[in-house]
Amino acid sequence: MNDFAVPCLVIGARGMLGHDLCLALKDAGAKIVEMDIPEIDICNLSSVRAIFQKVRPRSVINVAAFTDVDGCETQTEAAFSVNAIGPENLAIVARGSGSYLVHISTDYVFDGSKKEPYKEDDPANPLGIYGKSKWEGEVRLRKTLLDNYCIIRTQWLYGANGKNFVDTIIRAAKRNKILKIVNDQLGSPTYTVDLAMAIVRLCQMQATGVFHVTNKGTTTWSDFAAKILEFVGLTNVKIENITTNQLGRAAPRPLYSVLDNTKFENLTSMKMPLWENAVEKYLSGRTV
Ligand SMILES: NC(=O)c1ccc[n+]([C@@H]2O[C@H](COP(=O)([O-])OP(=O)(O)OC[C@H]3O[C@@H](n4cnc5c(N)ncnc54)[C@H](OP(=O)(O)O)[C@@H]3O)[C@@H](O)[C@H]2O)c1
Repeated sequence: MNDFAVPCLVIGARGMLGHDLCLALKDAGAKIVEMDIPEIDICNLSSVRAIFQKVRPRSVINVAAFTDVDGCETQTEAAFSVNAIGPENLAIVARGSGSYLVHISTDYVFDGSKKEPYKEDDPANPLGIYGKSKWEGEVRLRKTLLDNYCIIRTQWLYGANGKNFVDTIIRAAKRNKILKIVNDQLGSPTYTVDLAMAIVRLCQMQATGVFHVTNKGTTTWSDFAAKILEFVGLTNVKIENITTNQLGRAAPRPLYSVLDNTKFENLTSMKMPLWENAVEKYLSGRTV
C-alpha cells in the first residue's frame, strides 16, 4: 500500500462528509489542510490557483458541492458552477501541479431504469439538474486530467455533521403519530464515517478511475425509516407508504440507484458494513 500523498487538501471540509473525512484522514496519520468556502471557492479558478500555490498539495479531495437537490432545479447556474465548473477548475490546477485528485459524485448520474446494481461504466442519464451538473463535473474532470484522478460515486448519505434523513425522521416522529414516507425508491443508505474510511483507503492506494462505494444492502426510504424508529424505540409511530410522485418534490429522482461495489472491494479487499449495522452505530447511545 502506498503512503498518502501529503499534504492532502480537503475541500468542503466543513460539510457532512467533509467533517468525518477529515477525522478519518487524521486518524490514519495523514497531514491534511482543511478548506471550505469562503477560504476557497472552487467556482473561481484564481481562488483555486492561489490555494494550490499556498498549500502545494500532493493530493486533493473534493467533497464540496451544491447538494440541495430540489434547490438545484431553480438555481441551475449555481448548481453547474459548483458541481461542474468547480471540479473542472480543480482538475486544471491539479494537472498543472501533478496532484492526485479525488472527487465525490452521486448515484443521481443514473436514471434508475436498471433492475440490478449499477456498475461504474454503465451509461449515465441524469434526470434532474443536480444529477446533470454532477455528471458534467465528472466529464469535465476526466477530460482535463485523463488519469491521476479518482471519482467515487455514493448515495443516501447521513452523518453527524449535516442535515440528514435519520435525524429528520426522529424529529418528525416526536411530533407526529403517522409519517408518510416514500417506498418506491431503492438504494443503500450510507454512513459518512464508513464512506470516509473507504475514501482514506482509496487515497492510500492512490487508486485511479471511477468507484462505487456505499454501505451494503438495499432498502426503501420507508423501510429505512422503520429501522430508525425501531433503533430509537419510537415504535408507536406508524409509517404510511407513499410514492415519489405523491411526495411531489421539485427534482426527479431515480427509482432504482443501487451501486455495485465489486470494483472497490476487489481493489481494496475492504467490505463495507451492512446499512442496518451502520445506522445502528450512528444511533448508538442516542436517547430520544
Ligand atoms: N448527501 C448525500 O446524500 C449525497 C449523496 C450522494 C453523493 N453526495 C456527494 O457527496 C459529497 C459530500 O456531500 P455532503 O452531503 O457532505 O455535502 P454538504 O454537507 O452540503 O457539504 C458540502 C460543502 O461544500 C461547501 N461548498 C459549497 N460550495 C462551495 C464552493 N464553491 N467552494 C468550496 N466549498 C463549497 C459547502 O459550504 P456551504 O454549506 O456554505 O454551502 C459545504 O461545506 C458531494 O459531492 C455530494 O454531491 C452526497
